[in-house]
Amino acid sequence: MYIDTHAHYDDKAFDTDRNELLSLLPAYGVEAIIDPGCNLSSSMQARSLAEAFPHVYFAAGIHPEELTDLPDDWLSQITRIADSTKCVAIGEIGLDYYWDASEKELQKQVFEAQLKIAHSLNLPVIIHDREAHGDCFEIISRHRENRGVFHCYSGSAEMASELLKMGWYLGFDGPITYKNARKAVEVLSLTPLDKILIETDSPYLSPIPVRGKRNDSRNLRFIVEKIAEVKGLSVEEIVSATSQNAKMLFQLA
Ligand code: NI
Repeated sequence: MYIDTHAHYDDKAFDTDRNELLSLLPAYGVEAIIDPGCNLSSSMQARSLAEAFPHVYFAAGIHPEELTDLPDDWLSQITRIADSTKCVAIGEIGLDYYWDASEKELQKQVFEAQLKIAHSLNLPVIIHDREAHGDCFEIISRHRENRGVFHCYSGSAEMASELLKMGWYLGFDGPITYKNARKAVEVLSLTPLDKILIETDSPYLSPIPVRGKRNDSRNLRFIVEKIAEVKGLSVEEIVSATSQNAKMLFQLA
C-alpha cells in the first residue's frame, strides 16, 4: 500500500470534504499519510487530524515563508506541538528564496533552530528548499547529526549525489510527470530505490493527467507509474520499496 509522506490536509482547499476524503483513502490503497505543518496553527491542525485518524501522522514546523508575526516563544510552542505519539518529524522547514529573499538571515536562523530541536527530540526533518540550494546544502553539511528528506527535491544531480552519500532521502512529487521534468528525472535515475519517498504535496502539484486540479493522495499512483518507468521496475516494487522507506525514516507503527 502507498504512503504519502507529504500532504497538507489541513489546507483550506479541503474544508468542504476533509473528513470524508481522509476516511476513504485506505480503500484506495493509501496506508498512511504525513501532514507537515507550515506554521503554528497548521501544525496544530495537522496534529488534530493525526489524532483523529489512525492512518494520519504529522510533522510540526515553521515553513520559511511563514516567518511574519512569529511569536517570541515559537520554538517552545513547536516543541509542545511535537509532543505527541503521532508526530513523526519536524517540518516542513528550510529556505525559500523564490518569493522573497529579503529575509535570508532570519530564514537561516529559524531553519537551524528547528534542525536542533529535531535532533534533540530524535526526529527526522522534512526540508523545503526552493531556489536556495547552496545555502541549504551549506547548513545541512554543518548538521551531520540530522536525518530526513528533501521534500520535492529540485536541486542539481550533483547536490543529490552528495545528499544521498550523507544518508538523506529524496521526495518525488507530481512534477516528475511533467514534460519539462528532465532534471528531476535525471535525479530520480541516480537515486537508489531505498532512498526514494513518494509525496503528493496535496492540494498542490497535481501530476499529469490531473494537473491543475486539486491534488490528493489517490494520485500517488501517477507518480509511482513514472518512477517505475524510469527505474524499469514494476509498480508493485516501487510501492513496496517507498512504503518501507517511509516506515524506516519516520518510524511509522
Ligand atoms: Ni509542502
